[in-house]
Amino acid sequence: MGRMPEGSEREVVAPRRVAVVGAGHVGLVTAACLAYLGCEVTAVDSDPRKVEALRRGNLYIHEPHLRDILDACRERVRFTTDLEPVVLASEVLFVAVGTPGRADGSVDLSGVEGVARGVGRVLGGAGRERPLVVVNKSTVPVGGGDYVSRLLREGGAGEGSFRVVSNPEFLREGRAVLDTLFPDRVVLGGESEEALEIMRELYCPIVEQSFPSPIEPRPKREVPLIVTDLASAETIKYAANAFLATKISFINEISRFCELVGADVGEVARGIGLDHRIGGAFLEAGIGWGGSCFPKDVAALRAMAEGQGLGMPLLAAAEEVNLAQRREAVCRVRSALGGSLEGERVALLGLSFKPGTEDLRGSPALEIAALLIMEGARVAGYDPVSAKKAARRVPGLEPCHDPYSALEDARAAVVATAWEEVRALDLVRAAAIMREPRLLVDGRNALDPEEARAAGLLYSGFGRG
Ligand code: UDX
Repeated sequence: MGRMPEGSEREVVAPRRVAVVGAGHVGLVTAACLAYLGCEVTAVDSDPRKVEALRRGNLYIHEPHLRDILDACRERVRFTTDLEPVVLASEVLFVAVGTPGRADGSVDLSGVEGVARGVGRVLGGAGRERPLVVVNKSTVPVGGGDYVSRLLREGGAGEGSFRVVSNPEFLREGRAVLDTLFPDRVVLGGESEEALEIMRELYCPIVEQSFPSPIEPRPKREVPLIVTDLASAETIKYAANAFLATKISFINEISRFCELVGADVGEVARGIGLDHRIGGAFLEAGIGWGGSCFPKDVAALRAMAEGQGLGMPLLAAAEEVNLAQRREAVCRVRSALGGSLEGERVALLGLSFKPGTEDLRGSPALEIAALLIMEGARVAGYDPVSAKKAARRVPGLEPCHDPYSALEDARAAVVATAWEEVRALDLVRAAAIMREPRLLVDGRNALDPEEARAAGLLYSGFGRG
């Protein structure tokens, strides 16, 4: 049982039965971590193939530590496609389905709508002793909590049968388990004190860091808990991602200045990052930010504001700087090859949106590939895990499973994802198999400029000599 809140009479027993609807990146990691903390968790997904795979122990997402923690609590995690019995048996239900962005910045909430109406139908048909705490873990536009309440009622749920809480996630792909167990903070938003109290109990082991750490040394000793209103919790999620994306665009704008004045953006980032008000993270210059969240959430925040007549010029500029970085990489290739890319072979090193993942969503590499191909280049794309998948996304992209086969006969190469395999390239061998002018655009400042030039490459970094 968790801490007793000050002055409360009623004994609050930590909820033991939790449902997570949506077994994707966020849902599966959330389910595994809650089970690891001692809850009885049922993960629900509408895709029977996913459920079958999970029952067989086949994890279709590659997250470090996920298998270890699932193995440590396998008897407390179940997988099913059947929502109804799970709704009836659970005290807390996390909505963790995808909320993809649309081209106009709006958010596709059809997944959330389906779940909320389905849960509403089940709640409508059964009396409950205590309201089901419905938790928005999915990133929903501000007002999403009230929207889910309305959908639950439309589905048939009685007023007293549910309470909605916002609990945004701040998980980075490749660190999702650690970001869940050792977060910088836990954010809860809601109007119901009863529901918030249940959520406090649920998160008590994370806030107090009282669970056995799966890694040593333990990264955190205590975790701040923010309990606020729904709109503030929902806004925190968007503001966090928008700030991080803007911070990256800031250092990218500074990197262009560094190129003008002969400064080194890595040194500048180090020098400003030591100021605790700035912080050193997310100051790596290059071809910019991608992924499934930053592009979507920045566009959504702007769309929400503009939908109510408010412009957000700073975010618009952050997006413009981000796009300009990708175009700059293409410009450098074009000018080094004499102004035309027609028929030229160009290597792209790294295709996933960042190292350690096969996720191509919003990947700067794919946009650069498409821009090069549009100008007639023959692009050979290397990635240790996502080359084939990328070739299906970008018509004309030649998938390579070895960086040297991409570099063979290429006149130019662009480092787009800083995989270890790219950082460890044999630059002498690369120069030997490439053709004049052997341009290497280092889109992630991942290689050593002097070493590259000594090997015979025409090195071009972002914000560095
Ligand atoms: C991000 C947020 O970090 C996370 O808190 C949120 O929950 C989801 O979105 P993720 O998209 O997994 O996580 O990737 P992240 O590691 O944040 O990188 C996002 C993009 O920024 C990548 O394309 C990465 O290459 C780029 N990036 C990151 C930079 O260009 N420079 C940096 O210094 C850091």
